[in-house]
Amino acid sequence: MTHVFTIAIDGPAGAGKGTLARRLADHYRLNLLDTGLTYRAVAHALLRLGLPLDNVSAAETAARQVDLAKLDRAVLSAHAVGEAASKVAVFPTVRRILVEKQRDFARTPPGAVLDGRDIGTVVCPDADIKLYVTASAEVRAKRRLAEIESIGGTANFAEILADIQRRDERDMGRADSPLKPAADAHLLDTSEMAIEAAFLAAMSVIDDVLAKKNKA
Ligand code: DC
Repeated sequence: MTHVFTIAIDGPAGAGKGTLARRLADHYRLNLLDTGLTYRAVAHALLRLGLPLDNVSAAETAARQVDLAKLDRAVLSAHAVGEAASKVAVFPTVRRILVEKQRDFARTPPGAVLDGRDIGTVVCPDADIKLYVTASAEVRAKRRLAEIESIGGTANFAEILADIQRRDERDMGRADSPLKPAADAHLLDTSEMAIEAAFLAAMSVIDDVLAKKNKA
């Protein structure tokens, strides 16, 4: 069997893992999957149909219909969809359906970078590299505010911070596959680190692992 290379990136909302995942996938020429989009697609389907987010059987149907090749980031990136995604993500049956699709993706040569909340712990526990990317809630809120303002929007810092804290609580506190670093994950705290520095730090971890593999 050909070995596929897997990089698992987990962390809370807004820690910069999406940007890091994209940079690493480009650099190492791997496929890229933002698994948050799969949960967002389920939430979006329910919102569009006007169904409550705790309708588990509708959420399961929506999860089965998720096509990884057709995830539309422009539609799914809305803030309300992220909030709703964190609510449908508590259902074990929904997770099982999406995790199966994510594993299929990871198995496709030459391998992939996957980012999410449970990649190193549940989706790809045998990943070659596991990174846990984090930053303080205040720093993440400041970054989000700057992002909103950079596109001409306005927002309230205290509300953004409260939102982030609520989402962290839900993602870390759920019973099935809560957000937490895998025991063998490399921790990257980006609170005081620009994305370029985080990319360089991640590259040095990955290049070390690759060098050992090539020697073996
Ligand atoms: O990374 P994101 O903001 O797009 O994720 C949206 C929500 O989806 C997140 O709050 C929790 C859920 N999620 C998850 O439970 N497991 C993943 N692997 C990815 C996302």
